[in-house]
Amino acid sequence: MNKPIEVSASVLSADFSRLADDIKRCEDAGIDRFHIDCMDGHFVPNLTIGPVIVEAIRKSTKLPLETHLMIEHPGQYIESYAKAGADIIQLQVECYGPRRAACREWNQWPKEVDQIDLPALRTDLQKIRQLGKKAFVVINPGTAVCEEILNDCDGVLVMSVNPGFAGQKFMPEALPKLARLKKIFKGDIAIDGGINAQTAPLAAKAGANVLITASYLFGAPSLRDVTQGLKALLK
Ligand code: DX5
Ligand code: ZN
Repeated sequence: MNKPIEVSASVLSADFSRLADDIKRCEDAGIDRFHIDCMDGHFVPNLTIGPVIVEAIRKSTKLPLETHLMIEHPGQYIESYAKAGADIIQLQVECYGPRRAACREWNQWPKEVDQIDLPALRTDLQKIRQLGKKAFVVINPGTAVCEEILNDCDGVLVMSVNPGFAGQKFMPEALPKLARLKKIFKGDIAIDGGINAQTAPLAAKAGANVLITASYLFGAPSLRDVTQGLKALLK
């Protein structure tokens, strides 16, 4: 049985000068969750949202907030994001393990690893769960699905773009990862990057049950039409 599709609004493409209004518009459109892209200018080239803004978003909605941590040493920030009101904390596995030679300098992206330091990742996932929050791992397009960690997490987020910016093109390399996860994993399977009317059906069919969208959603004339169109996939 397929899980119902949930749509997560990535606030990166919202209007930050009237964020509370955009959050309300998403709620009225039937959005299920909010996705908050937290970037540090090191793990990714962009710099975005810290716990202070998460706290402000928390005051504007009761819907689940997922914080996608694209930051070095994410373990150091778990408590701050949890305190700020995150319900789901998403850790990039590329923060755990020796980096590939091509991305060892601070200004070389995307960050990629061949081996993951499982004990260190497990410790941080447990830290999230001990705080009563849901723990997700995130895998970049260049990273394989790490099957050994699945028992320790509530969800896996498969990146279909290299993280850093909204509005990039969907990378179909993500699809086989979704299909594999659908076979072996009972938790949430989320997809992030380049989701639109063409790519969402492919992702849903392959196995994603959470569709994250920034530019497609906020760039549309009707948030409701986009949200309901995505939720109707596989019905
Ligand atoms: C990319 C972010 C995504 C981004 C998605 O680094 O993790 O969440 O907001 O943007 P779109 O939907 O425009 O690809
Ligand atoms: Zn994201």
